Amino acid sequence: MNKEMRLQKFLAGAGIASRRKAEEYIAQGRVKVDGKVITAMGQQIDPGRQTVLFDNKVVRTEEKTVYILLNKPKGYVTTLSDPQGRPIVSSLLQGIKERVFPVGRLDLDTEGALLLTNDGDLAQKILHPSNEVFKTYEARVTGIPSTASLRALEKGIMLEGKETAPARVQIKRKNKQNSVIIITIHEGRKRQVKKMFQAVGHPVQSLKRLAYGRLGLDNLEVGKFRFLRQNDIKKIFAKKSSLQTKK
Ligand code: URA
Repeated sequence: MNKEMRLQKFLAGAGIASRRKAEEYIAQGRVKVDGKVITAMGQQIDPGRQTVLFDNKVVRTEEKTVYILLNKPKGYVTTLSDPQGRPIVSSLLQGIKERVFPVGRLDLDTEGALLLTNDGDLAQKILHPSNEVFKTYEARVTGIPSTASLRALEKGIMLEGKETAPARVQIKRKNKQNSVIIITIHEGRKRQVKKMFQAVGHPVQSLKRLAYGRLGLDNLEVGKFRFLRQNDIKKIFAKKSSLQTKK
């Protein structure tokens, strides 16, 4: 979310001084933004991305840590701003004052579970490949992949010179034209699910992320969000997805 604010407002909000006093400090050259002394008034800063020093000490704001699960609609970008002016996911978070950011990405035309938080450590933990957080998707693909193709996807296929990690793949529904497939992966390469199905000759027509680990959307409507509790966070790291039935 783009949360630019005036430097003096930020300093006041962080409890350094009143806004007026903060202006004096700025004028006195006691405030640095990203290492540079700022003396001009009215400088806009983004506290989520920039570091502010007062008398050479980092200024921190007390912000509540929040964890949000959004059911992202198609047509929204998961970046915090978009030069092309497309809708951004943070615009769906009405009433959220904290500077949350998405954990990972979903394509513009992908819908489903998107975590947002201002907890950088947790985001890092979820995204780090060594933690192997499982992500489950429902993909509608063209045609009906053969058993051999499904097994190949499960075992690992070459994508851009690197084999994909083992996945779980299961056909949920099929008809002559297309199939709905549930796939669970723990890597997070860009457009990975689409590329995997493309590689076996079954392009993805639509894609929805159903869950991180065992944390699913449940009845969350498209475009709506809910706050997560510690119990939900634990589910993210579950080593099995509850969304796939045993084979
Ligand atoms: N894989 C994709 O291809 N797209 C997404 O948005 C997420 C996973």
